[in-house]
Amino acid sequence: MNRIRVGIAGCGNIGGFHAKVLREVEGAVLRAVADANFPAAQKLAGQYGCAAYASLTDLLDKGDLDLVSVCLPPALHYEAAIAAADRGIHILMEKPMDVSGARAAGVIEHCGNRGVKLGVISQHRFDPAIQILKSLIDQNRLGKRLMGTARVLWHRNPEYYHDAGTWRGQKSNQAGALMNQSIHYIDLLQYLMDGVEAVQSVCRTLLHDIEVEDTGLVLLRFKNGAIGSIEATTIAYPGLMAELNIYTEKATVSVRDDKLAFYHAKDGPVPELDALLAGKSGQAAVTDPLALDTKGHVSQYLDMIDAINNNREPAVSGEEGRLPLVLIETIYAASEKENWTPL
Ligand SMILES: NC(=O)c1ccc[n+]([C@@H]2O[C@H](COP(=O)([O-])OP(=O)(O)OC[C@H]3O[C@@H](n4cnc5c(N)ncnc54)[C@H](O)[C@@H]3O)[C@@H](O)[C@H]2O)c1
Repeated sequence: MNRIRVGIAGCGNIGGFHAKVLREVEGAVLRAVADANFPAAQKLAGQYGCAAYASLTDLLDKGDLDLVSVCLPPALHYEAAIAAADRGIHILMEKPMDVSGARAAGVIEHCGNRGVKLGVISQHRFDPAIQILKSLIDQNRLGKRLMGTARVLWHRNPEYYHDAGTWRGQKSNQAGALMNQSIHYIDLLQYLMDGVEAVQSVCRTLLHDIEVEDTGLVLLRFKNGAIGSIEATTIAYPGLMAELNIYTEKATVSVRDDKLAFYHAKDGPVPELDALLAGKSGQAAVTDPLALDTKGHVSQYLDMIDAINNNREPAVSGEEGRLPLVLIETIYAASEKENWTPL
């Protein structure tokens, strides 16, 4: 089978990471990269032996691509996806899928009409701990889900938000602690607990000089009757951890920094979870946004390539990628109301 020809739009932090990831992806070849900052595209192209372009349009028109990975600031995701779909090029979008659920729905519809595959990065869904936990839940081996909590206690320094030309911390890019940093664990929580029905929240800008929230506290009611919470921040000096706790009738399972931290099951040992506990400790972006393991992205590329080759939906389709975006939008709307009961 021919290798899928991939182009990367945006050669910043995650664009460079995608180039590195693609080296590990059998069935794909990096053909070209593009960045409005052309020297950045040239540098990455030089490192990885591919073509460089100064614009998205040139990348899509001249790159000879099957698939484009959208690694641009969030506010540019919509236009990039529409332009790729118009040219019949499949799309893998970095998170968040866009800055609004309505625009994301437009992308899904457009890709459907043009017959191109649309995938959205949520690489931690491919972490072994999450895959095994999801399969145990789907097999009903942990019993009824009762409560789920996500805590993303990260730190970002002032330079991260105020580097020249950055989109981070900007309202137009929805780049707050929930939508930008915590979206991964928020997605995992709603994925494992089976969807959210209603939320209450308080989002504040407590520390950083930014236009969006650096902290959010959220209460959740899941569709299956379970409850949950989210604690999301970038003020937790010096960067503590990301944690996901799932409480069921028969077990408590805790994932910390992308690995299984512990579990206790009433019916005795769960071999799949014991095997995970024997593995190594995690690598999470608690302080450094680039402290990422390539494995999650590699798995997601492999899934995307299989989806293209076998004409099926990717595991994290447009619909799936839109779920955490809409959830976080709803959390923001709930925070406008702040429904307190006075003493
Ligand atoms: N999955 C993850 O773990 C992860 C990690 C980091 C970032 N991201 C996501 O990836 C996206 C990019 O983030 P980043 O940290 O790489 O940002 P970045 O600012 O480092 O890189 C963005 C790049 O896009 C380029 N660019 C801006 N406007 C452009 C245009 N009109 N045409 C072409 N190029 C243009 C910029 O010059 C820059 O090089 C964001 O959506 C972010 O949320 C995901």
